[in-house]
Amino acid sequence: MKLKHLLISATVLGVAAQVSAADEVTVIRAGKLVDVVTGTVLKDQTIIVTGERITSVGPSASAQTPAGAKVIDLSAQTVLPGLIDAHTHLTADPYLSGYNALGVSDTRAALYGVRTARKTLEAGFTTVRNVGAGGFGDVALRDAINEGDFIGPRMRTAGYAIGIKGGHCDENLLPPDVNFTGRGVADGPWEARAKVREMAKYGADVIKICASGGVLSKGDEPGAQQYTLEEMQAIVSEAHKLGRKVAAHAHGASAIHDAIVAGVDSIEHASLIDDAGIKLAKEHGTYLVMDIYDDDFILQEGAKAGMLPESIEKEKKVGQIQRDNFRKAFQAGAKMAFGTDAGVYPHGDNARQFYYMVKYGMTSMQAIQAATINAADLLGWKDRVGSISVGKYADIIAVKGNAADDATELTKVSFVMKGGAVIRQ
Ligand code: ARG
Repeated sequence: MKLKHLLISATVLGVAAQVSAADEVTVIRAGKLVDVVTGTVLKDQTIIVTGERITSVGPSASAQTPAGAKVIDLSAQTVLPGLIDAHTHLTADPYLSGYNALGVSDTRAALYGVRTARKTLEAGFTTVRNVGAGGFGDVALRDAINEGDFIGPRMRTAGYAIGIKGGHCDENLLPPDVNFTGRGVADGPWEARAKVREMAKYGADVIKICASGGVLSKGDEPGAQQYTLEEMQAIVSEAHKLGRKVAAHAHGASAIHDAIVAGVDSIEHASLIDDAGIKLAKEHGTYLVMDIYDDDFILQEGAKAGMLPESIEKEKKVGQIQRDNFRKAFQAGAKMAFGTDAGVYPHGDNARQFYYMVKYGMTSMQAIQAATINAADLLGWKDRVGSISVGKYADIIAVKGNAADDATELTKVSFVMKGGAVIRQ
């Protein structure tokens, strides 16, 4: 039923979709296959997909092709697991920033997400972690995609990002006479705990908090801490008790420090991380999710898109430092997962970040691992996505170039399969 819906919607959207029946068998011939588990490239491999899952992977020479199976020939291409972006905002339109965003309803934003979900998936991102949306628009998108209403990536959702009054996760554009407070605002350990419960109640898979100020918010500083250690300890203990991980927006060093000590699972941005923070992240196994492409878009397009002058100024202060710190943290051995803050820049351009990840110290293979196996681990979904392995969902992409030697090839994805259904060919 689900699959039938998917076929219909995909056709309506003009996508070349072929959807497998529940137990339909598809054989994929891969000229090169990127094995992200071992960090190697295997030649002439055959992947067998049964329904939504991968049921066999191995050398083509010894592969048995089941009679009647559909064959997809990617023998001239490089085949990889579907990519994962651990930091998106599918309901956010980058060209409606700052005051331009004030007139947009949560419902309108969620409908915008219908288009961005498709764009993101077609770009090869078969899974995303959406870390903040108004009106639980991300939860609605997740559920609609899962029910086959339209196509989009698998989603982990946060609902509202949680933060202090007047902080990065509040809405600070309105004058005091309006006296508006964002729904994610929670001050003090118990209020914050209650807010975690509220997010979980309405469908959050992950809890997003604002530990520091930000670039795109009004009246705060990226380097300044917002939540206290005590508040973050309450949030983390509540979230973990309820089986949810915590992602902490944190640019500044002290916010990063206290968030890691409180036990968050990932630090988002990590722009001004210092040596002590890197050491702490390693000790705690905390992932760093550093969005090092955004600077380009903010500085080139931000003013036009409505970003506040103060935001552009803040970006000029943190952008380059974040890229340098990406190199430093990676070389020191901190765990890294791919995340881009899509929504700050146009959806579907997610893979543009690979250029910077390689420029600032990763090999192409390491950047691909950050966007597959590592991100899957951070999402708590290592059992279902992140590698082309037996038992996992058949989330598979391909590119014509040699992505393992040049990750920028991932901006030109030529084939996308999600759960055995061909999305793009
Ligand atoms: N959402 C983030 C903030 O407003 C975006 C930061 C983008 N800048 C960067 N250099 N990564 O703080």
